[in-house]
Amino acid sequence: MAGGLVGASVLAACSSRNAAEPEPAETEAQEAEAPQPEEGAAQPEPEQAEESPAASKTLVVFYSRADENYGDGGKEWLEVGHTKVMAGYIAEALGADTYEIVPATAYPEGYDDCCDVAGQELRDDARPAIAGELPDITPYDVVFIGCPIWWGNEPMIVRTFIEGVNLAGKTIVPFTTHGGSGLGAVPGNLQAALPDSTFLEAHAVAGTAVDGARDEVVAWATGLGIA
Ligand SMILES: Cc1cc2nc3c(=O)[nH]c(=O)nc-3n(C[C@H](O)[C@H](O)[C@H](O)COP(=O)(O)O)c2cc1C
Repeated sequence: MAGGLVGASVLAACSSRNAAEPEPAETEAQEAEAPQPEEGAAQPEPEQAEESPAASKTLVVFYSRADENYGDGGKEWLEVGHTKVMAGYIAEALGADTYEIVPATAYPEGYDDCCDVAGQELRDDARPAIAGELPDITPYDVVFIGCPIWWGNEPMIVRTFIEGVNLAGKTIVPFTTHGGSGLGAVPGNLQAALPDSTFLEAHAVAGTAVDGARDEVVAWATGLGIA
């Protein structure tokens, strides 16, 4: 498991990183054993982004944190998280439904405090609780799964999600926003955790560049052959 496996260079990355050159954080947490998908208990309807032929088949799932983060001018307070912006581009381009993973206990608003909590969750191989009920993903063939890179990996609450729904047989498309780590370990982690799913090309956008990345994201999403 991930306990105690985060190295000192990784810990330094979060507290001292800047928007221009954060250190990619590689951890052994990516080697955590593959979780077994299981059915979520109760399953509400995801929000419908808009009506289209693809709306009943593609779901964009994401976790994103607003509050203090890195924007164009260094640390700033974001009203909408970078990954949520990227998720919106995808959903709009594909006419897909969306589901936002909301933590039952909010992460700290301050960047450094959030880094501390996220690092501890990674070391603990935690499964933070999700607020509300998980979505019914049975109607969907394609599930985008998006998140920020935290310590080189997906936030642990993404693992809570993928273990809470049955993604076997689904086509999964990972996407991330980041401060320099790109996709990090996310595609590999998801593929290890979801051996019975099919994966399409993942895509990463720097968080600070997300506002100008609509065309790039739409080109990628619509080029996957699922639009
Ligand atoms: C707790 C925490 C850990 C982070 N770790 C990394 C990292 O290892 N590598 C990286 O490139 N960016 C890292 N970042 C930066 C975020 O990935 C980046 O700002 C992202 O765009 C935030 O997306 P969001 O606003 O949707 O949460 C970290 C940010 C936080 C809050």
